[in-house]
Amino acid sequence: MSNFQSSVVYQIYVKSFYDSNGDGIGDLNGIREKLPYLRKLGVDDIWITPFFPSPMHDNGYDVSDYTAVNPMFGTMEDCEALIAEADALGMGLMFDMVFNHTSWDHAWFRKALEGDPEYMDYYIFRDGVDGRAPTDWIASFGDPAWEYVPSLNKWYLHLFDKSQPDLNWENPKVREELKNVIRFWKAKGVRGFRFDVLNLISKPERFEGEGAGHRYCKDGRHVHEFIRELVADTGIETMVTVGEMASTTLDNCVRYTNPQSHELSMCFNFHHLKVDYKDGDKWALMEPDLVKLRDLFREWQEEMARQGGWSAVFWCNHDQPRIVSRFGDEGAYWKRSAKMLGTFVHLLRGTPYIYQGEELGMTNAHFQSIEEYRDVEAINYYHILLDRGATEEQALAVLAQRARDNGRTPMQWTAGDNAGFTTGTPWIGLPENRAFLNAEAEEADPDSILHYYRNLVQLRKDHPIIARGDIRFLDTGNGKILAYERTLEGRKLTVVCSFSGQPEALRLESSPAGEALVENFPGAVNWETVEPYAAFAVLE
Ligand code: GLC
Ligand code: CA
Repeated sequence: MSNFQSSVVYQIYVKSFYDSNGDGIGDLNGIREKLPYLRKLGVDDIWITPFFPSPMHDNGYDVSDYTAVNPMFGTMEDCEALIAEADALGMGLMFDMVFNHTSWDHAWFRKALEGDPEYMDYYIFRDGVDGRAPTDWIASFGDPAWEYVPSLNKWYLHLFDKSQPDLNWENPKVREELKNVIRFWKAKGVRGFRFDVLNLISKPERFEGEGAGHRYCKDGRHVHEFIRELVADTGIETMVTVGEMASTTLDNCVRYTNPQSHELSMCFNFHHLKVDYKDGDKWALMEPDLVKLRDLFREWQEEMARQGGWSAVFWCNHDQPRIVSRFGDEGAYWKRSAKMLGTFVHLLRGTPYIYQGEELGMTNAHFQSIEEYRDVEAINYYHILLDRGATEEQALAVLAQRARDNGRTPMQWTAGDNAGFTTGTPWIGLPENRAFLNAEAEEADPDSILHYYRNLVQLRKDHPIIARGDIRFLDTGNGKILAYERTLEGRKLTVVCSFSGQPEALRLESSPAGEALVENFPGAVNWETVEPYAAFAVLE
């Protein structure tokens, strides 16, 4: 079994992890200082979000130089030291490759804007139609997806912010440039890569249609061959690789990750994080549809297993609100619900990802005014919601649940000022719960979410059934209780998780008799009435 199947990955959002020099911004030396914390948590690999030079319109997902370090985050020496120190502690680093687009400050795009035909062909420039954009596509952050360049009398495509022009992967020179980026970091000792919105790289032959630009580009016609070529030519097939796949399909994810296709170790999909989008609209609130959540997990988990694919399993990242605020409870059942959510993900088939602070049960930001938000998407949509007729209060209520900034508040290390994240002024504020919700307090409390996560990570090492077992979802007779069983070599692990704040009746085909491997509070195991947010797993 290759190694990534039994590993646990930790995601660091550099800007908010730990500030080593008091400028209010997390940095590479901050990560170095906290490596022992990660070692103790037991994680194997660490994915670090982009820290490359960038004008930071999208917080570093707009890269202006792929093989250098943004001075805001440190130096190349800091980066090399970080790689070596993580390695010495037995942890591998995964760097974040934003290859669907560059920043508009990248030298390639600058030359393109000067009209250099060689570099114009690195991007997607098109003529307008009757003075209008080539299509009426909308970019991810709410703007039109084509930007007009008067000096060229052409439009360029950007599926995200206009400061993030999409690269033209059809051009072999572009593919060669990107391979060189991989080779550069591989030579520095990086052990893996996360590829940003990788399934959007292959654009359609003809540009047409209207609405979200994504829809026309996802899992595009050449995406599999582009990935295969990138992986083969850089020799990273045996490294740990994960692709972020936007609005993808199961069949494509099987292909992206089945070892026979020689593409990636695993991929992220986001369908399970849209079950609280009303009519598929992120900016329209709705209670989570738990039956849909179960059906999605059932389908993806069972089919990926049957067809030999492999998933990255997760609740949180820097683009998502905090899961305990979303599918759990920030109040009386804070601890219990955070542990339940951790249990559900960590015992699934796939490689679990822990996003910084999730292991502490960190919550949404609870910002009260638009001035507190930092993200381009949040600010754009605030105005879009107002334009659509929402009051300020209503728009803020939507942002409070949906903005990406909810997941980007500083890591809460201590009960002190700014939760010990910085001695300066943090670039973004934090919620009012650091007094009890911080790593130091949780370290001291054996019943904490942090200790519970540590145990979940350890269980994966101790019980091969978790990494290698088959999976089947169970009928529970209750839409709010999700349950599945893992099986391996005659053994069976039954996992039950309640997503309800009330006691719920459970009806399983049979009640397993065995030792509780996990329970999120003493006495949680009950095959008839499941307590609020209870989670347990029994091994036979
Ligand atoms: C991915 C990143 C997100 C970024 C976008 C554009 O979804 O996770 O943060 O805004 O790609 O690069
Ligand atoms: Ca700093």
